[in-house]
Amino acid sequence: MTKVINGEELNIPTHVAIIMDGNGRWAKKRHLPRGMGHREGGKTMEQILEDAKDLGIRYLTVYAFSTENWKRSVEEVTGIMNLLRKYLKDCVERSLKNNMRVRVIGDTSALAEDIQESIRHLEEVTKDCDSIDFLIAINYGGRDEIRRAVKKLTAQAAAGTIDPDSIDEQMISDSLDTAGIPDPDLLIRTSGEERLSNFLTWQLAYTEFYFTDCLWPDFDRDELVTAIRYYNKRDRRFGGA
Ligand code: IPE
Ligand code: IPE
Ligand code: MG
Repeated sequence: MTKVINGEELNIPTHVAIIMDGNGRWAKKRHLPRGMGHREGGKTMEQILEDAKDLGIRYLTVYAFSTENWKRSVEEVTGIMNLLRKYLKDCVERSLKNNMRVRVIGDTSALAEDIQESIRHLEEVTKDCDSIDFLIAINYGGRDEIRRAVKKLTAQAAAGTIDPDSIDEQMISDSLDTAGIPDPDLLIRTSGEERLSNFLTWQLAYTEFYFTDCLWPDFDRDELVTAIRYYNKRDRRFGGA
């Protein structure tokens, strides 16, 4: 889809994935506790979701908490979980108002029971919304997601419901948490780090990468448009000549 933004015609990526990084450094720069960075980062996430919808992005996936983030202090992890707890509750009304379908990816079984319940409720009530799909990665790891997909497929093979020889790439995609969602066209990572940190390992095989020094709480619509402009300059060949 193309869209004219500030007089400029841009091809809008269908699916944008974001590694929202730099909350801690944003807080540190201001001599604030890390938790304040996460709080600001949460506000940025809400705003960027609306901007994405407004720009015509059809799928937005954000990395909120990785399978490795449990290594942080109990205080920090508890703070992030409390922010998510509140966000998932507030999200119901906002999503319905903006016609947004929400899905959580990652191993949610390790989350507190009330958070799991909020996720089930949010996914259920927004399932028919169709202006944008918002995927939030919580306790998500790309390798863990592949591990869980392999378990599902091998269990089916052992039960005789599928033939191991029939397993193709599509069946693997369909066994991931992102089943039914097209692979991301554009990946954005903020805060200057240039690594994937276990995000969407399978799905990013042909995605364009955009890295910016901007810390996540400072990321805004202009930054998002800059990333889309960068995406427009890429020549996506998918292995062709
Ligand atoms: C990203 O910000 C948010 C999460 C990983 C939950 P960080 O907390 O990683 O911020 P930095 O990288 O320490 O600045
Ligand atoms: C990746 O950021 C995870 C999220 C943004 C949720 P990290 O800050 O955890 O990644 P590393 O440790 O710098 O690789
Ligand atoms: Mg970080």
